[in-house]
This record gives sequence, C-alpha cells and structure tokens, in this order.
Amino acid sequence: MINSTASACGKIILSGEYAVVFGYPGIAVPSPLRVNMTFEENDRGSEIIWNGITGNDHWNTYIRKICELVGAPKGSLTIENDLPLGKGMGASTAMVVALARVFGLDRAQALAIEHQMNPGHSGIDFAVIWEEKSLLYKKGEEPEPIHLSFDLQNTTLIDTGAPNETTTELVAWVKERKEELVDALETIGTCTERIIRGEDLKRVMRDHHRAQVALGVVPKEVQSLIEEIEKKGGAAKVIGAGGRTGGGGMVLTYRAA
Ligand code: MEV
Repeated sequence: MINSTASACGKIILSGEYAVVFGYPGIAVPSPLRVNMTFEENDRGSEIIWNGITGNDHWNTYIRKICELVGAPKGSLTIENDLPLGKGMGASTAMVVALARVFGLDRAQALAIEHQMNPGHSGIDFAVIWEEKSLLYKKGEEPEPIHLSFDLQNTTLIDTGAPNETTTELVAWVKERKEELVDALETIGTCTERIIRGEDLKRVMRDHHRAQVALGVVPKEVQSLIEEIEKKGGAAKVIGAGGRTGGGGMVLTYRAA
C-alpha cells in the first residue's frame, strides 16, 4: 500500500517569457511558495482533498489526468497548496512534479508527463521547479545554475487575478504571430543577457515589461498598475504567461535598495 508525501516549489521568471519558447535565454528562480502532496492508497476511489489555495473542477480534472499518467492506484490525495493557481507561478508544472515525486518517477518520466499536460511549453518551468535552483535556461541546452547579484528581498508579488486564457493557448497565439513579434522576443532575450551582465534590474524590468506589452499578454488594467509603480520610481513585470483578458496573474515589483 502506497503512503507517500512529496512537494514541489513554484517559480518566478525574472526574464524570458515567450522568448524561451523560441530559443532565447531566460532566467527563473524557485519560489518559496510550494505545494505538498500526500497520497494514501485505499479503496475509497480517487478523492482529492485540498488545503490552502484550493483548485476548482478544472484543477481536479487536471490532477486526475496526471494521476492516470503516473499510474496511481485508488486512494486519497491531500494537496496542501500555497501556490496561486493559474497565475504564472508554475502551479500546473508543480502539480506534475509533486505527483511524479509522490509516485517515485524520475526526471525523464516526469518531463514526459509535463509534455502531455502542458503542450508547447519551453521547459523553463519544469527545469527550475525540478532543480529548485535559480537557473539560466536556454531550450535544448543544459540549464545553468546562476547566482544573482541583486537582492530579491526588494521584490514583492501582486496578484492581479487569473487570466481567461491558459498558458498553452497563449503560447499558441504568440507562435502564430512570431514573425511580427520578433523585435519584442529579441528584446526579452536581451533582457536576460543584461541581467547576467549585472545591469540595474529596475531598468531591465521596465524594458522587459514593454516587450511583454508588445506581445499582447499584459491586460490594460495591469498596464495601468505597472505605470503607477513606475511613476513612483519602481519597476514591475508580469511573471509567466500573463493574459489577453481577465487578470495578468502575479506581477513582480521591484524597489531599488
Ligand atoms: C510560462 O511560465 C512561460 C512561458 O514562456 C511559456 C513557456 O516558456 O513554456 C510563457
């Protein structure tokens, strides 16, 4: 009888959204917020018990599909979750990784499930969540652990609400318009290089945000919020896929020390 517990972190992308899908470099850090899962094999069916931030039917269906792919027997799954859901912090990948760990899958097996659950993904979320280290990520290359020269204590996350679109839909929409978006994608890739060179994060974040706006994945209200933050001398950007309508997910704000 399986009785097993495992957990996974979420992620914060500092630079690289969408650009990483096309082979430009990106930087992601693990989030202190996590999801913990405990599976207890029994014959009560396949119940899912949420504590903390609770998933809706969509999330229950998503979790059941992963359970199917990992070959989970009947049992109770308890999910203790601190990760905002569908808001750019990698919760969908964290669910894959946590469940893969509960059932003893290795990295390659977990990645195969990620491919099925989140088609079109670049691999950045999976890499940082699996490694739990700050990474420089480039598709098709071994992710490189990196040391960041600035203090993330100077950052805050603001919840702007969940977008109406899924990341898979948004990535497909950006891919369709790739030719017209080349400049913005290139700017985002360059932002990653500027962070690595040690350039002031505030300046880089402002340019990164403008490129995300050019991609069409920062809803109007979120643009206004970030404009206010910039007027007060800060910088901010959407982390993760953002959205076309609804909220833009979590926004990372930075105040220079
Ligand atoms: C999502 O966290 C980041 C995106 O670049 C998609 C991906 O890299 O898979 C928008």
